[in-house]
Amino acid sequence: MNDSSTGKSDNMPLRVVIGVGGGIAAFKAAHLVRYFTEKGHHVNVIPTSTALRFVGAATFEALSGNPVSTDVFDNVDEVQHVRLGQEADLIVIAPATADLMARLAQGRADDLLTASCLVATCPVVLAPAMHTEMWQHPATRDNVALLRSRGTVVLEPAHGRLTGKDTGPGRLPEPDHIGQLAEAVVADRDMYRQSLTARKVVISAGGTHEALDPVRYLGNASSGRQGFALADVAVQRGAQVTLIAGVTEDLPVPSGANVIRVASARDMQQAVTAAARDADVVIMAAAVADYRPANVAAAKLKKGGGDDLSSLALTENPDILAGLVEARRAGELASEMKIVGFAAETGDASHSPLDHGKAKLLRKGCDLLMCNEVGNGKVFGQRDSQGWLLHPAGDDVVVTDVPHSSKLRVAATMWDEIESLDE
Ligand code: CTP
Repeated sequence: MNDSSTGKSDNMPLRVVIGVGGGIAAFKAAHLVRYFTEKGHHVNVIPTSTALRFVGAATFEALSGNPVSTDVFDNVDEVQHVRLGQEADLIVIAPATADLMARLAQGRADDLLTASCLVATCPVVLAPAMHTEMWQHPATRDNVALLRSRGTVVLEPAHGRLTGKDTGPGRLPEPDHIGQLAEAVVADRDMYRQSLTARKVVISAGGTHEALDPVRYLGNASSGRQGFALADVAVQRGAQVTLIAGVTEDLPVPSGANVIRVASARDMQQAVTAAARDADVVIMAAAVADYRPANVAAAKLKKGGGDDLSSLALTENPDILAGLVEARRAGELASEMKIVGFAAETGDASHSPLDHGKAKLLRKGCDLLMCNEVGNGKVFGQRDSQGWLLHPAGDDVVVTDVPHSSKLRVAATMWDEIESLDE
């Protein structure tokens, strides 16, 4: 927790107000309601009157278990126009239309949703959805900047197919993704402050597959979640993000990130090295295979087919992280570029995971290393993480505890630390 903490931790039940603007994506708000109710949160839905032309009040009432109204003159005896906003721990508006953002930026209170936002002291998160031209219009840009300057979180819209034939930024992200991004703000409302604008960042994520024959490979259990979370936070903080994704679970693409898919360690090395040329920060969150089969069979290896399958010859893969540090030392990359690594460690008879992490930091020569203890269901494939952030101080290592929390919150802590390396 920090100064911007709301005093609510990651897993406490929250009073969530879901605002729904009048756009075609209003139907996705129904899934967002379900996301929060299934996590045990108390949900009130406040649609605008236009939103109710897309989705009926009955849908929101059934899913939230609470009555729905749009007007400040509904339920006047309960002073509803201020009560819902005052009591909320979190307000999420999805979709936030251009018109609704304009009204919020003006401080209008001409319906229940805008009135609720005006009395709210909790974090307010807007998930905009509109045609690309509307999103890019100077009026909308100004409104977004004004809202952000007042502490409202305006999420970046996803890129992709919009209503009709057009594609571009303006699409509503998937509801679960909005839910995760919004929930994280409750513990830190500055989590998506615009502190990385004009920064170019490169993040690798996921595992690699090292081919053995056309159908088999050597791989690992990395889900890619931590790398994607780092990309999510960087996008929301305003960075230009290239995400080099190895083999991952089916994760939502961080809005607006340039995603390059690779499979092997050598493909990843090529993609990272190319993207790193003009980057300000490179984070190697990928679990890169240290070795690959020395020979890749052109045809499927057959049991009893004359192939010796009882042993496997391996050859070492390039160390991408060490290569980046070396290239910077050699002046091939900007000297002010920050290079960040990960260390997924288990303890052994003589050393703790942290001992291994410290040794790895000094061996790899990067600026920051996130060290996790893994194994026994810890970290790999999980939604949560914890560990230590290590950075070098001469021959010594400074250790900062990263408490147990969602991978998004861990990503935010890492970005806070990376940004402080510049100071
Ligand atoms: N890494 C890399 N290229 C490799 C292996 C690892 O860039 N061929 C990066 C990872 O992305 C991570 C860091 O190096 O940021 C540490 O990875 P890890 O596998 O823990 O380190 P290794 O050097 O392989 O050491 P170990 O002997 O513990 O496996």
